[in-house]
Amino acid sequence: MSKKTMRDIMVAGKKVLVRVDFNVPIKEGKILDDTRMRRALPTIKYLQEQGAKVILMTHLGRPKGQVVPEMSVRQLVPHLSELLGQEVLFAADCGGPESQKVAAELQAGQVAILENVRFYPGEEKNDLDFAKELAGLGEVYVNDAFGTAHRAHSSTEGISRFLPAVSGFLMEKEITALSEALDNPAQPFVVILGGAKVSDKISVIENLLKKAAYLLIGGAMANTFLKAQGYAMGASKVEEDQLETAQKLLKKAEASGVTMLLPQDVVVAHELSAEAEGKVCDLGEIPENGMALDIGDKTVEAFSQIIAKAKTIVWNGPLGVYEYPQFARGTNKIAQAAASSQGKTIVGGGDVVAAVEKSGLADSIYHISTGGGASLEFLEGKVLPGVAALLDK
Ligand code: 3PG
Repeated sequence: MSKKTMRDIMVAGKKVLVRVDFNVPIKEGKILDDTRMRRALPTIKYLQEQGAKVILMTHLGRPKGQVVPEMSVRQLVPHLSELLGQEVLFAADCGGPESQKVAAELQAGQVAILENVRFYPGEEKNDLDFAKELAGLGEVYVNDAFGTAHRAHSSTEGISRFLPAVSGFLMEKEITALSEALDNPAQPFVVILGGAKVSDKISVIENLLKKAAYLLIGGAMANTFLKAQGYAMGASKVEEDQLETAQKLLKKAEASGVTMLLPQDVVVAHELSAEAEGKVCDLGEIPENGMALDIGDKTVEAFSQIIAKAKTIVWNGPLGVYEYPQFARGTNKIAQAAASSQGKTIVGGGDVVAAVEKSGLADSIYHISTGGGASLEFLEGKVLPGVAALLDK
């Protein structure tokens, strides 16, 4: 990576402000998935071992500049203390008297965490006064929040104007893995895209058409492509206003020599509910009141054959409504195909990551990104503001 990391800077004895992305799903105070917290541990532990005084900052949810008690970072403290095996201190403000006191009294190897940075209206505006207040708490800034690197906020971008700014290990790993796939992918490079909307993925498709050998499309976004090809899609979700775009992308793929594969068969139901029963239909056989909710077996087979030969695989978006077991088969089967392929698989986006983890195959995947929006913007070829702000090597 061309950006400086914690290894390139003196941290021993210093107060190090670390932006993490602990935006974890939480319900009634219970953390439902602590992946993002666990993935930041190597950075925190390295700093502790170096004798730094570690001050963590994160957002949690979207409180929009207001204090929302259900989104307080305080709720994360007991679990973080447990993960680190030592008490983590909590400061109930960000740059105010409490955090100043905690920062001043922090000892080498100790860890503190600040209240939700998004309780302050300045954060999302990238207000430089707020960034300066945050910066005043430390001597070095480490950004390990890849999941928030696509946001130019005070704690991800503005702060770098006041402190030497370097990346943490998770940020470094994310950028290295994603750049490896995008800059010089081992071929065949296979891209798997799913999810609801073509409109969310246009820029990703355009960027990856320059690099990929195959583009495999599933999920509701495939319905729009299929309709653009003239298939009757019954009551399936289709973005009518994207049909022309879908046609253009299909033509572009052909002109670029990229094989774009759409479903040959789909699992259809009359409603989306826990009781709904799915039936596999070939294209052309979808009943008028039927909705395509997953890819069918023939499609799974065709996609799996390509995935087996792949050297690089990038996957974003589930291939069916995987939250319902009867429509999760396609996503699970493709997860198995990716896990057993010789190729390096990089998975991004909350839904696919959850599906891969649920299938118990996460250990066989080369890289699972903690970024949803951030990984998508990276795949679009955008420079993420939180990365751009770090010092060059
Ligand atoms: C995420 O969950 O994708 C990141 O934490 C960013 O959150 P945001 O979309 O609210 O900025």
